[in-house]
Amino acid sequence: MYFSKIIATGACVPDMIVTNDDLAKIVDTNDEWISSRSGIKRRHFSKGENTSDIATGVAKELIQKAGIDPLDIDLIIVASVSADYTTPSTACLVQGNIGAVNAVAFDVGAACSGFIFGLSIADKYIKSGVYKNAIVIGAEVLSKYLDFEDRGTCVLFGDGAAGVFVERTEERTGLLAEEMGSDGAKGMALTGGHSPAGNAFNDVTRQAKRELYMDGRAIFDFATRTVPKSVKSLMEKAGVTVDDLDFVLPHQANSRIVEIISRKLKIPMDKFYMNMDEYGNTSSASIPIALNEMVEKGIIKEGSVGVLTGFGAGLTWGSMLIKF
Ligand code: COA
Repeated sequence: MYFSKIIATGACVPDMIVTNDDLAKIVDTNDEWISSRSGIKRRHFSKGENTSDIATGVAKELIQKAGIDPLDIDLIIVASVSADYTTPSTACLVQGNIGAVNAVAFDVGAACSGFIFGLSIADKYIKSGVYKNAIVIGAEVLSKYLDFEDRGTCVLFGDGAAGVFVERTEERTGLLAEEMGSDGAKGMALTGGHSPAGNAFNDVTRQAKRELYMDGRAIFDFATRTVPKSVKSLMEKAGVTVDDLDFVLPHQANSRIVEIISRKLKIPMDKFYMNMDEYGNTSSASIPIALNEMVEKGIIKEGSVGVLTGFGAGLTWGSMLIKF
């Protein structure tokens, strides 16, 4: 039986840092409100880099760290809800930029769960023997979708990209168990990039409202109800207890959500990793950005076992047990 071993992690975030105080200069908010409600203090915003640019930065770092020839890459998956174009996909743009001419490349749109969904797909291709390796990236330039007059939303998000290079192995490692779900009936609680069906023969306006809209309370309730259930069910399925886990890495949306998840699961906060103070909510990039940071800081080492759990628009959620 094959498994997908995580060989390398990488990240690429725009240089421009926007603090809560910077935001308070253009929208009616303040550092105290933002940090006490969300744990966010800063975020990185694009200076003009688009999603494919930062995703390409990640791919180049992964190639270098994994020591792989781009010609040997089989699969490139980019999870994103903020692509440069509707088509070509961001994954195809990355493929072109790195010269991975033998790879199959496509995008996955599952918002803040996107990296989890993407990694799950890559794992299935590898487990089934179809491909021997894959690059999986979460990449977002969400700032281009923010309504800077909507203070309830624009203060929460940031831009960034990160990912992993995974490779086929027969060693029992990588993605060991997963639990995923979706609830499309509640999808309107978090929307963005609406594209109306106007054409030359109907009277529908083509004027799109691209900006993110969020019912913050509904999303807060969804996350604090669904994520604990998802992680609990994952742990039962995998037959692991809290003591078996070296870390829990949740989607970096909001520190209050993470604290409630910790309480409900009876998993101590010191097992949870958080860095939303530095990046805000970068949607599909948040888990791999944190993962890369944990590897670089030596928090995750060879043999570490932990849970990744994502949740967000769609609505979607997904938890996975991984071993490094
Ligand atoms: N600065 C200052 N005040 C703000 C503000 C801001 N940036 N945004 C909203 N407010 C105000 C509101 O206008 C409201 O004022 P009012 O009482 O005078 O009407 C007050 O703060 C409380 O707003 P409310 O929306 O009730 O706050 P909340 O406690 O629900 O917190 C969120 C709002 C968005 C932080 C919270 O709902 C949340 O974290 N939701 C989840 C969001 C998320 O993580 N989304 C992504 C998931 S992938």
